[in-house]
Amino acid sequence: MSKKVFLRTFGCQMNERDSEMIAGMLKEKGYEITDDPDEAQVILFNTCSVRQHAEDRVMGNVRQLRSRKKKDPELRIGVLGCMAQRHGEMLFKELPEVDLLAGPSNIYDVPDLLARSVSSEKVIAVDKKKRPGKKAAGDHRSGVFSAFVNIMYGCDNFCSYCIVPHVRGREVSRKKKDIVDEVKSLIDRGFKEVTLLGQNVNSYGKGLSSRTTFPDLLEAVNGIRGIERIRFTTSHPKDAAKPLFRAMAELDKVCTHLHLPLQSGSDKILDLMNRKYTYSDYLGKVELLRKMVPGIGLSTDIIVGFPSEKVRDFEATRRAMEEISYNSAFVFKYSPRPPAMSSCIVDDVPEEVKKQRNNELLALQKKISLANNRGLIGTEQEVLVEGKSRMSGAEMMGRTSANIPCVFPATEALLGELVWVRIDSTTPNTLKGKVVQAKGRRLAP
Ligand code: 5AD
Ligand code: SF4
Repeated sequence: MSKKVFLRTFGCQMNERDSEMIAGMLKEKGYEITDDPDEAQVILFNTCSVRQHAEDRVMGNVRQLRSRKKKDPELRIGVLGCMAQRHGEMLFKELPEVDLLAGPSNIYDVPDLLARSVSSEKVIAVDKKKRPGKKAAGDHRSGVFSAFVNIMYGCDNFCSYCIVPHVRGREVSRKKKDIVDEVKSLIDRGFKEVTLLGQNVNSYGKGLSSRTTFPDLLEAVNGIRGIERIRFTTSHPKDAAKPLFRAMAELDKVCTHLHLPLQSGSDKILDLMNRKYTYSDYLGKVELLRKMVPGIGLSTDIIVGFPSEKVRDFEATRRAMEEISYNSAFVFKYSPRPPAMSSCIVDDVPEEVKKQRNNELLALQKKISLANNRGLIGTEQEVLVEGKSRMSGAEMMGRTSANIPCVFPATEALLGELVWVRIDSTTPNTLKGKVVQAKGRRLAP
């Protein structure tokens, strides 16, 4: 009988894609993937280190397995991804029930580590500093219409708060041909939308022997027969510029959405964060983008409570959010991440203040999102039908090109189709409307 594996993913889309690759490799070795941890003989956590909270959740999940592991020593428990890389062998001390550790660049070793962990005590692989360009065996995807495609691994930016360059290593771009081939094979399998993934997609191509830029890659993917939608994330504001905006304006399959993390509206804080732009640089880019790509949806990430953030810095962030008027924003409370540089600065904003600033910005964004969504009432939006609405069985859901969730009465017959929906009402997060054209692409009204 094949062994069953339960694999839980924490964190970002890169981790989701890594988990698909891990699942694919394990399936190829004869394991079965289960969504019930109680029936699994192998439990793996693909982890995130970006904030302490994410790590605490993993620790709690592993500790919960302690009594089960005592009763069933054959159970294999693995911690994979960023936490394994960040803590290394120390994790075996903190979490004695863990049998195997593999960093993000070592995920290809997971099947082998698992096999070895049965006979030996503890196994660990966190030695690779750079992600090899190789493709994982098996091609497991958790979605049906929309798929993630890695275009690069790692990051060279060293924003002072960020653990990513320390755990995912330096930037490595995959070859354009490999990416295009992967997207082609996804389209042949019925996928409609791809999201190109990288920590900083705008520096794609650095280090490749042929001179390729991210807009070149977008153009190549846009030319693939049968592709309906192209998304990408994440863009660093210092590198997102006119050639990208031009590509977004000209390439018909590239969605009108840009995730552009601002992090702070205060130049003092941006400098301490090592972001390499000022708020005015950022705003200039947003203005250009809005001129070149009308209807563009903008989303962002904000950190509140960075060391030395004073009321006036926070107010600058708040004003920036009002001025830019994002469609959505993720707001995070600062969390020191040694060895990231900012962990050397005293974390002097009290937790209570971080919480209050966090809540204030979330409430502000809710108002802004609602106002922006209201502005779409009466318009017709192209939506890729992705699944049933969570709220009502009689409704389906999808996202507009600008990445705004949208629900509408329809049946599963429309799954995977691009439809046009006339928007008639909205909440801060979700547009509601009726399908006015069920199939096929047409020019935007
Ligand atoms: N503390 C709080 N938020 C952080 N992020 C990254 N590192 C930290 C940290 N140390 C946020 C940033 C980033 C998003 C993915 O997570 O806003 O864009
Ligand atoms: Fe972290 Fe900055 Fe790299 Fe993004 S660009 S992964 S925030 S170091």
